[in-house]
Amino acid sequence: MGKIAIMGAMPEEIEPLLAKLENVKENAYGANVYYEGSYGTKEVVVAYSKIGKVFAALTATILIEKFGCEKLLFSGVAGAISDDLKIGDLVIADGLCQHDLDISAFGHPYGYVPEGEVCIATDVTLRNIAKSVAQKKGLTLKEGVIATGDQFVANPERKEWVGETFKASALEMEGASVAVVCNALNVPFFILRAISDSADMDAGFDFDTFLQSSAKISADFILDMVDQIEA
Ligand code: ADE
Repeated sequence: MGKIAIMGAMPEEIEPLLAKLENVKENAYGANVYYEGSYGTKEVVVAYSKIGKVFAALTATILIEKFGCEKLLFSGVAGAISDDLKIGDLVIADGLCQHDLDISAFGHPYGYVPEGEVCIATDVTLRNIAKSVAQKKGLTLKEGVIATGDQFVANPERKEWVGETFKASALEMEGASVAVVCNALNVPFFILRAISDSADMDAGFDFDTFLQSSAKISADFILDMVDQIEA
């Protein structure tokens, strides 16, 4: 059975995962720590990347190339764009785009660079596993585009622009870079987020207030998914 990578961006996003791992072995590599362990019958490697697209791309690459992970699940929090996403709600990405990638001066669409894609789709099998876990648990799972950028958005105009430009439901700071790496390396991947704030004027305060509780909602769901993943 192949190893499963589970990553977050911040310590708070992986702490609820580490609490439930067994036989944990810490591995320092590339200025970070990778936790190899087991969850039930599955071998997993857990790490937090640090915030932002560059650190997330580095960690995803190492999880795949150095630790040999064959699937990658991301767990963490996001700012809501859609009005129907409230704090604590779970959202899965059907696709991810980089809202801060801009060579529109050359006539290209926002989020696009030559030989890339504006929106990268997540693995359908993993999405279906998420839906079946949600159904079994009686949880509501929203699905939509998640927009990623190296900005904490606490600004209603920026939030609206990202929502309209990319038809995005939520925004965060890592998903699309993980998508680029996994897509290039042919590794099935999945991005789950629980809402911590609404990317508005209150976002900073809400994020600090709800980071831990929303991160746990996401992490608990990811572990239920690991149970359901086929070898
Ligand atoms: N992650 C959680 N909330 C966010 C926000 N408002 N902007 C960017 N990333 C986030």
